[in-house]
Amino acid sequence: MSSEPRFRLGVLGSGKGSNFVAIADAIATGQVPAQIALVLSDAPEAGILARARARNLPARFLAPGRFRTKLDEETEPAYVRVLQEAQVDLVVLAGFMRVLKARFLEAFPRRIINIHPSLLPAFPGLEAWRQALDHGAKVTGCTVHFVDAGVDAGPIIGQQAVPVLDDDTPETLHQRIQAAEHTLYPACVAAISRGEVAVQGRRVSWRKH
Ligand code: GRF
Repeated sequence: MSSEPRFRLGVLGSGKGSNFVAIADAIATGQVPAQIALVLSDAPEAGILARARARNLPARFLAPGRFRTKLDEETEPAYVRVLQEAQVDLVVLAGFMRVLKARFLEAFPRRIINIHPSLLPAFPGLEAWRQALDHGAKVTGCTVHFVDAGVDAGPIIGQQAVPVLDDDTPETLHQRIQAAEHTLYPACVAAISRGEVAVQGRRVSWRKH
């Protein structure tokens, strides 16, 4: 048997899972030297779970508890435990709609990343593409960043710009941002998997080996 790539990803999502698919496809074609150890969702019917199972990857719904935008004091340790049992090296948030609290962050220091549909620090929060459009921005994009205690606030790993067109609707702009995400996220995961990404304070640098 050929040796499996060692770097293990735990992917968390609440939605359709298009970023998960982009990463899984990039792994399959050898662009990302990692493997998906586990896909976890807080929504039993989430597309990300179906898409993971269709690829024969371990995929689990884990009940999120009683809050709407975060995990509670019982479910957060359960998420951490399941990810630790899967021996995950990097937690990849791909549309996970809950804020992670201190206990989760401390379990995976500088090993949790997220993708956000704007050029942070502009337009954090929900529906960032609509915020960009409403603001009249001419350029927006997407950002991959380390997750810290703030919302969409951790050190920036990579960004890709997307122009805002005169006739854009929220839907067309969101679509083009997502297309950019599907290139940016695998590229960032690949660099981290190769050990090419170093963090010093807020500054993240990429070093080729
Ligand atoms: C992405 O657009 C990402 O920017 C945001 O959540 C969305 C997830 O989409 N954080 P998908 O489930 O990967 O299709």
